[in-house]
Amino acid sequence: MPDTNATLTSRKEWLALNAAREQLASTHMRDLFRDDPDRATRYQVEGAGLTLDFSRNRLTDESLQHLLQLAQACGLEKRRAALFDGDIVNVTEHRPALHTALRADESSVVCVQGENIVPEIHRTLARMEALTNAVHSGERTGFTGDRFTDVVSIGIGGSFLGPKLVAEALHPYRQGSITCHFVANIDGTDVTETLSTLKPETTLFLVQSKSFRTQETLENSLVARQWFLDNGGTDAAVAKHFMAVTANVEEARRFGIEPDNTFPMWDWVGGRYSLWSAIGLPIALTLGMKHFRALLAGARTMDEHFRQAPPEANLPVIMAMLSVWYTNFWDAQSHAVLPYDEYLKFLPEHLQQLDMESNGKRVTQRGADVNYQTGPILWGGVGANGQHAYHQLIHQGTRLIPADFIIPLKARHPVAHHHAALFANCLSQARAMMAGKTEAEAEQELLDTGLAPDAARRLAPHKAIPGNRPCNILLMEQLTPESLGALIALYEHRTFVQSVIWDIDCFDQWGVELGKQIGNEILPRLLGEAQGGSAGDSATDNLIRLFLSRG
Ligand code: F6P
Repeated sequence: MPDTNATLTSRKEWLALNAAREQLASTHMRDLFRDDPDRATRYQVEGAGLTLDFSRNRLTDESLQHLLQLAQACGLEKRRAALFDGDIVNVTEHRPALHTALRADESSVVCVQGENIVPEIHRTLARMEALTNAVHSGERTGFTGDRFTDVVSIGIGGSFLGPKLVAEALHPYRQGSITCHFVANIDGTDVTETLSTLKPETTLFLVQSKSFRTQETLENSLVARQWFLDNGGTDAAVAKHFMAVTANVEEARRFGIEPDNTFPMWDWVGGRYSLWSAIGLPIALTLGMKHFRALLAGARTMDEHFRQAPPEANLPVIMAMLSVWYTNFWDAQSHAVLPYDEYLKFLPEHLQQLDMESNGKRVTQRGADVNYQTGPILWGGVGANGQHAYHQLIHQGTRLIPADFIIPLKARHPVAHHHAALFANCLSQARAMMAGKTEAEAEQELLDTGLAPDAARRLAPHKAIPGNRPCNILLMEQLTPESLGALIALYEHRTFVQSVIWDIDCFDQWGVELGKQIGNEILPRLLGEAQGGSAGDSATDNLIRLFLSRG
């Protein structure tokens, strides 16, 4: 058995943070604002076109310093350099994690096993551009000569969430007239409902799978191909209508997709970091390559900011260390991401995979058990909708839930009044979390409405809101390809910095494998292809019997 890793919790910076937490335990953020008129501007940093207002945190200059010192003590600078340089940062799979190279400019040099990978990345971008332009211009058509009108992206996890987020978020930047659909779930409803609206002769399918081994993706692709053949398509026409993005060209060929119709993925890109690669084809086909390149440029600007800005002005570093602060010192179990922008409604889903698949780990890089909490549960949804659902628990529940509010200063719609109302909602929620309302204030308010003193006293505890609940506000001028690229890259780097502190491998995902393995043993039993013995335990056997009894 590996030893418990006690290194982190016995560091002097960690102990200093324990003491800082003790000191701050009885301080309300209201007091921090009262005592420092400049707090709002002093706790605000900018980078890559984004502004982070982190003034509403249980933070003093001293505790912030300790957090940044902890980052330094954990070797952040060295680990960051290793990430960008293509060192083996995914230790359990012995791979680099070079999503940053996917958005590096053409003159950069990034080597993997002695070979500069940047030229191949740019050749792939050029191929994506050629395909996108050919589809948009009608030069590339379906088997009847009709223009493509629809693209179905079949993929799951990282081969789905990022492209879907971006294609939907940048809808106002659409170029051409392609409608993109996403099929992910093995629940047949997903593929059936999607196909029911489409015509084979005008539909292009992208099979998106780094491994080309993912059950959901392969099964959905088989259904799509059969639907294509059943509705007028021919075997020869499959080549015109099915393309793949994969690192497993051989498997794609076995499926019937020729290398000419296959775009590369590489071992050194993790699925959840892959939207910047050809996995981003649904984005390019929907928005045009100009906007895809602008997305890459925005992410590149954030990469530069992350590499160069000093820790006290570095957005990913500050956001990551605040997460460490609440996770490890204030017992926060979850983190809410609350975009106040309808276009960003899929952001929490993408960040869930990014953060929870990356930092949902319980041993250090060397395999020792951690003796501290690691990745919190990330969840969220768009404001203002969430205010009428889960914000109640954020404000008055027993749990501490730090939140990120994300909002553009200018909207992409013409209803100006609505944007002011949305902005007001965002600011009011952040203020309510920070300041709350004391019982005395609640009681006074009730008295002011004419309520009898007794009744006011009885009701006041229910109306009091403790406040002192931390949040960040992330602002951008407007939601553009550049700012969205920067925003996603910001969270990628935040995730990485957290993993450096927790000393975990944020680029593997062994935890998802066991379920796949067990599922492969159960399926033949449900299909009647395997009988006898046990599937592992009586509870599973019992429900297999129930399923089979329904024929
Ligand atoms: O099962 C998890 C996972 O491996 C993710 O990390 C990945 O993004 C997803 O499955 C899809 O994998 P692939 O692109 O190989 O089909």
